[in-house]
Amino acid sequence: MAEKEQASDNNTVTIIDNRNGTQVDFPILDSTLGPDVIDVQTLYRTLGYFTYDPGFTSTASCDSEITFIDGANGVLLHRGYSIEELTENSNFLEVAYLLINGELPTAEEWETFRKDIALHTMVDEQLIRFYNGFRRDAHPMAIMVGVVGALSAFYHDSLDINDAEQRRVASMRLIAKMPTIAAMAYKYTKGQPFVYPTNSLSYTENFLKMMFAVPADEYVPNPVLSQALEKIFILHADHEQNASTSTVRLAGSSQANPFACIAAGIASLWGPAHGGANEAVLKMLHEIGDKSNIQKYIARAKDKSDPFRLMGFGHRVYKNYDPRAKVLKASAHAVLNELGCANEPLFELALELERIALEDEYFIEKKLFPNVDFYSGIILRAMGFPTSMFTVLFALARTAGWVAQWNEMIADPIHKIGRPRQRYTGSSPRNYIPMDKR
Ligand code: CMC
Repeated sequence: MAEKEQASDNNTVTIIDNRNGTQVDFPILDSTLGPDVIDVQTLYRTLGYFTYDPGFTSTASCDSEITFIDGANGVLLHRGYSIEELTENSNFLEVAYLLINGELPTAEEWETFRKDIALHTMVDEQLIRFYNGFRRDAHPMAIMVGVVGALSAFYHDSLDINDAEQRRVASMRLIAKMPTIAAMAYKYTKGQPFVYPTNSLSYTENFLKMMFAVPADEYVPNPVLSQALEKIFILHADHEQNASTSTVRLAGSSQANPFACIAAGIASLWGPAHGGANEAVLKMLHEIGDKSNIQKYIARAKDKSDPFRLMGFGHRVYKNYDPRAKVLKASAHAVLNELGCANEPLFELALELERIALEDEYFIEKKLFPNVDFYSGIILRAMGFPTSMFTVLFALARTAGWVAQWNEMIADPIHKIGRPRQRYTGSSPRNYIPMDKR
């Protein structure tokens, strides 16, 4: 606190170049919450240096009013509202509205937003043909990257990023169509007919129906499961400048169209260090197999010569229990009880793995706690989602955050093309050597 007060009394940081004694002041910009930032935009011009920060561990890439994370204390706020309050009281579409517009909707605004989304839930019939180009055993994330990118070829009337109304329509289309596209990716790999959206159902009920209904049977949504999915979607809706969101912003900074930007975000999310971790957690739990093997895998996770990591553990920002994992752990109990599998062996194994890891000196010292992916897979699996769909569900929910962040960036008067610099460590200039002389 004392340090913070000092920063606002004397609002600069001085860098002294010990090589030549040059001294330059850089402004400190206040944040509402969290660390203030040093504005180094003039660093290269004044001192001739770049900053060096691989992985952006100390770099703020933009101003944002959307999401705040206090990693040390396990706090996550969207537009100032805590994730705990939102998961308890809100629903995914309302959170999407909040992320995009900055305020919770009035009753009238909510009705308009809900109707707008309903207007866009179907996809162009021609887009359906895209699915036939994929192998039936394609990973659904591969299908998502392709089909969401292909939306750019269908909705020409919402590609002009300089037109606020076109940006709004593109945002609505993305949030509305994502469940349809995701469920179709599943149905395709399953060899079942696609199910059209039902606008009288809630966002999550409609998605569950498109996933699990078959024409031969009537589908009745289970309220406990749709509530649990609502929570999962809210928990994944946004997470400030993570890898996929930064990818969406970077792609968008060149003025690429929104559908292409979100496809880029989906590609980035797919990796096992990011959204692919929920799938990796389940694979890991299956591999561990039994509580008696836990110590062996903990030892492997600690062994630097072994690439194995405890999936669903650790986070760049959270150095405390991920608040999203806390909500999911409680939700896992509710879902498993509802489905009559309270003693699900994989859940018991996960609980025991968490207990042992949290008592281990290595995990304590490095502040490695369960993250959002640790329990989400167990719930999704119990609900009937195949492992390969876990990251797809993450992408579906994160679309709300991507869209909000993309809109914020475009509307920001100081936004410019993202163009990081580098520390070049390659060869100095040299002459070409003909092949017979090499
Ligand atoms: N198991 C074992 N050791 C770990 C783990 C883990 N899961 N995570 C971090 N460490 C160690 C790491 O080896 C390093 O040790 P040292 O300081 O001795 O080199 C230290 O902890 C710091 O880790 P880091 O890799 O430098 O931290 P990071 O901020 O670059 O990486 C992370 C964060 C999430 C990629 C990493 O913790 C990880 O790979 N976790 C497993 C994958 C995972 O669960 N990802 C989901 C993240 S949350 C959802 C999302 O954002 O998509």
